[in-house]
Amino acid sequence: MPELKRISIPYLYELKKRGEPISWLTAYDYPLAYLVDQAGIEMILVGDSASMVVYGNSSTLPITMDTLIEHCQAVRRGAPNSFVIGDMPFLSYQVSVSEAVYNAGRFLKEGNCDAVKLEGGVRVAETIKAIVNAGIPVVGHIGLTPQSSSMLGGFKVQGKDVESAISLIEDANALEKAGTFGTLLECVPTKITSIIRKTVSNLVFGIGAGDDCDGQLLIIHDILGLYQCFTPKFVKQYVNISAIISDALKNYRNDVKNRQFPQPEHSFTIPSSELQKVKTYLSKTT
Ligand code: KIV
Repeated sequence: MPELKRISIPYLYELKKRGEPISWLTAYDYPLAYLVDQAGIEMILVGDSASMVVYGNSSTLPITMDTLIEHCQAVRRGAPNSFVIGDMPFLSYQVSVSEAVYNAGRFLKEGNCDAVKLEGGVRVAETIKAIVNAGIPVVGHIGLTPQSSSMLGGFKVQGKDVESAISLIEDANALEKAGTFGTLLECVPTKITSIIRKTVSNLVFGIGAGDDCDGQLLIIHDILGLYQCFTPKFVKQYVNISAIISDALKNYRNDVKNRQFPQPEHSFTIPSSELQKVKTYLSKTT
């Protein structure tokens, strides 16, 4: 078990300096956040992916600020050591800069997060500057940005042609200039990730962006086999927990049907003297 300590941005930069990749996972609730923290995973994203993997929506768009704040609170209770990042949901930062700063602040003030993440590069640079100026650490998210997947033509790898590769590089530079401490690249060819990593000095994280990153992010439901609707190519599934849970549920059902559950060890007793008194009472009153 790794020695646990509260993770900070300087510590994350220390890991980059040492050449030690940073591990990052999503979590949305207390029990999984506890296990992630205890495993020594340095960072947790309370992602708007909760909209899909927790609430069963077909996109990330419906989830709200209030819902994500509640998930952040639960995650922080379970994960006192990990660096927790709140994911700014759709429409929480696009309408105006002041609303964006206010909503980002809620993740720290109410959600007990350490930082926020939001999607976009050049187009959100001014918003990010204002959030950072308010003292709120920001990770930018470019490449495949699920909140704008309709504009991108679906869930597709980005940066595969010269125009989109150059615009990714420009986005990464704009994010660094805007004051982000990190940039997350989603579904980006490894060679473009390497170019970006050479041109910026903030932390470069990847989800489906190859191995030349300062840290790797995956969705916890994907690595545990808990979300069965769709598994992206970049996911490595470490366990099929759904199969284990299904077996347990079928066994429970069978035990109930066959009167194998509960057994005496799952039941409570009453002293025989007290039981006798109950019976005596009943015999007098009925
Ligand atoms: O919400 C999320 O989990 C994310 C990742 C897919 C990057 O934004």
